[in-house]
Amino acid sequence: MLESSHAPALANGIDAEFVKAVLHGLAQPKKTLPCRYFYDARGSDLFELITELPEYYLTRSEAALLEANAPEIAGRLSPDHVIVELGAGSSRKMDALLRLAPADITFVPIDVSRHALTEARSRLSAKLPRLIVRPVVDDFSTLDAFPVNLQHRKKLGFFLGSTIGNLHPKQASDMLHSWRQILGRDAELVIGVDLLKDERTLVNAYNDAAGVTALFNLNILARINHEIAPAFTLTSFQHRAFFNVRMSRIEMHLVSRVPQVVQMCGRSFRFAAGESIQTENSYKHSTSAFRSIVEGAGWRIGRMWTDGSFSLYHLV
Ligand code: SAH
Ligand code: AVI
Repeated sequence: MLESSHAPALANGIDAEFVKAVLHGLAQPKKTLPCRYFYDARGSDLFELITELPEYYLTRSEAALLEANAPEIAGRLSPDHVIVELGAGSSRKMDALLRLAPADITFVPIDVSRHALTEARSRLSAKLPRLIVRPVVDDFSTLDAFPVNLQHRKKLGFFLGSTIGNLHPKQASDMLHSWRQILGRDAELVIGVDLLKDERTLVNAYNDAAGVTALFNLNILARINHEIAPAFTLTSFQHRAFFNVRMSRIEMHLVSRVPQVVQMCGRSFRFAAGESIQTENSYKHSTSAFRSIVEGAGWRIGRMWTDGSFSLYHLV
């Protein structure tokens, strides 16, 4: 059993929050869908494939930084610590650190993807049998308390993958602020952030030659078809990712190839040819931009490790 802090409200087996978010997003003048809904089982598996793509440098950069600095980070741990990973996914990048941590330390991976957490727990249990793994299915942006009964233990948190870039900077700052309360006053947090760099490298990372990112993007429509209603013809939409210079972010969209009307739950959503649904933002922060997000949230950057392309920040 995985712990689940607030199970989705289900009506007829359908996740009511998901339905509400989809209907709301599609009713906007600029249609959107929240990127947290990419990660059903297939979406989590597709993300794992993305991490191995030659164009997607982010995972390799961050894994190498974590591997190189794991001894220093692990040196801060006592057996009483709880290691928390927010938006954990497969937790693969944590291996370097977990190997060096006290053997029966507690690890709490938190994610909206039950599938990713189940896989992570079996992999880690086989690899590190003494590690105590307590996965929690929850939304990291709406946590209001630490989701397991370990409130009084000191926390070392990890928020990897540049997932913070999927939030608007104001939302990111508010969330980091609330995590200070949730993790406790003396908590520390390691965050991975993709850096602003040349546009070609950025754009290629979201437009891979094998088309895996396109499948990942389109999977959100496939998920709606499976979980809500068979509303979308997938071949009528095309993946598009570009760099928005003014906003310093990669934007992912699904562009309607034709004029069409999509019917769902008694509602009609009209698309002009070329009109898109925005599915994700991936902000690319300079160190100074990231510092102001962090400091606005009441944290301070203690250490920073970088390869010039990606940075790991140790927040205290
Ligand atoms: N940390 C991993 C995975 C990054 S992919 C890595 O660095 O490779 C982003 C992960 O965050 C996915 O596993 C996804 O399911 C999870 N996620 C996205 N939005 C979330 C939310 N609002 N709350 C909890 N998990 C979320
Ligand atoms: C999880 N997140 C940080 C990834 C990113 O790079 O924004 C998700 C992703 N989208 C397309 N490729 C990967």
